[in-house]
Amino acid sequence: MLLNWVWLKPKKLEKFLREQGFSGNSYKVFHGDMKELAQTTKEAKSRPISLSDDIARRILPFHHRIITNFGKNSFIWMGPRPNIHITDPKMIREIFLKHDIFKKLRSPLAKLLATGMVGYDGEQWFKVRKIATPAFHHDKLKNMLPTIHKSCNDMLRKWEMSFSKDESCELDVWPHIQTLTADVISRTAFGSNFEEGRKIFEVLSEQINLVIQASLFAYIPGWRFVPNKLNRKLNSNHNEMGELVKGIVNKRKEALKVGKASNNDDLLGILMESNHKEIQEKETGMSIEEVIEECKLFYLAGQETTASLLVWTTVLLCIHPEWQERAREEVCQVFGNREPKFEELNQLKVVSQILYEVLRLYSPAPLLTRANVKEIKLGEIVIPSGVLLSLPIMLVHHDHEYWGDDAKKFNPDRFSEGVSKASKNQVSFFSFGWGPRICLGQNFALLESKLALAMILQKFTFQLSPTYMHAPTRGVTVYPQHGANIILHKI
Ligand code: HEM
Repeated sequence: MLLNWVWLKPKKLEKFLREQGFSGNSYKVFHGDMKELAQTTKEAKSRPISLSDDIARRILPFHHRIITNFGKNSFIWMGPRPNIHITDPKMIREIFLKHDIFKKLRSPLAKLLATGMVGYDGEQWFKVRKIATPAFHHDKLKNMLPTIHKSCNDMLRKWEMSFSKDESCELDVWPHIQTLTADVISRTAFGSNFEEGRKIFEVLSEQINLVIQASLFAYIPGWRFVPNKLNRKLNSNHNEMGELVKGIVNKRKEALKVGKASNNDDLLGILMESNHKEIQEKETGMSIEEVIEECKLFYLAGQETTASLLVWTTVLLCIHPEWQERAREEVCQVFGNREPKFEELNQLKVVSQILYEVLRLYSPAPLLTRANVKEIKLGEIVIPSGVLLSLPIMLVHHDHEYWGDDAKKFNPDRFSEGVSKASKNQVSFFSFGWGPRICLGQNFALLESKLALAMILQKFTFQLSPTYMHAPTRGVTVYPQHGANIILHKI
């Protein structure tokens, strides 16, 4: 079995892929391309780049190199498994539509973060997606706006306090924005139990970094059972989160019993209510622990992604002050200095165009991966089972073929007639995924980003600090490796 997977199977798959017109490095026993991938990533991270450099080379250095050397029909070796690049929007569309065949990878490591719908398939996914969808309906999001507003206000108050007597002040806004999006999810997910929720999310944040470290060894069979320091910490954090979750469940049950909590003012409550309905109608639903796993998943899926969108929007509006001014004019026109209302946020056209252009250039998730469960034809190619598929969002988003000559330039005007008309192909923009499994929280993320950006624009003008180093890097999302130092001026 081991010999088959370490030597025979990869060789067979390589031959098959080459016959289909794919190319890449020859298979190297056990590691494949992993050593070169780690080396290239380390090199790319070792120095910042200039503002005009191609960011894809820093964020996906190895994928970029292989595609440059071997062409779009290329593969890389993730240990003994070949991983082919899919960049053709028609094929990407088919992969998203056939989600029961092209499945998400279920890494045992990911289970140490959270289970939940993102990793489910088939009926289990369908059931949970159905139960969770009402939590993101228009009226529920509307109810959450004051909570999100409160978190934005807290952040801006801290920014104001950073000013001494001067008219301007320098700040690394990246940690502030991360705290903002963590705060928003803790409050909107757990309402009155927000302090305990925040504790879960603190452990979860640490766990994310440990999982990233551990994933470098994930292709070594049995590695996760080695009782080393990293694995011990991963397991103890997992247990700690379990205990904290139980604590919230018990408190919530108690509060409901004595009538001290309403059941539908936060994501946890909305999910509990929707789940209750499902159980009454179909006699199947989720356990309360599963419901909380979904809340953990919202944090995992929604905290750093939204922070990434906001921080790059801030940086890009520094680099393109004419767009900062256009956005501010629009914000002033729509609600002046008043607190933005839910319906008014929909009137922000320029701000929306800017956010989409940032998502295109600095997609928070730069790459998605799938694995097919059986041999299948995709377009003209046959993909045997055992092959992984990479959908390199960032490389497709920057491709001249789909986005024209200015593909690598910041030009929010391309979204002036909406997302579907911005490029030549239907699925050449997929920052939120696409198809039935498209991001459930995209409206939540866009609402939060619009509100935060509008409130920042109302209070400050901003520019890059001379100390700013441009270093977009891939971690959980695309983040600024050396922070985002900007100079704020009060309006
Ligand atoms: C700018 C912010 C965000 C970006 C760029 C983003 C991106 C994505 C992407 C690319 C996927 C699909 C992954 C795949 O197909 O492999 C996804 C799925 C998902 N996202 Fe988001 N996301 C964002 C914010 C959020 C927020 C705020 C939440 C929740 C509060 C959320 C919840 C989810 C969930 C639950 C799924 C799984 C959907 C399913 O499998 O049916 N996301 N997201």
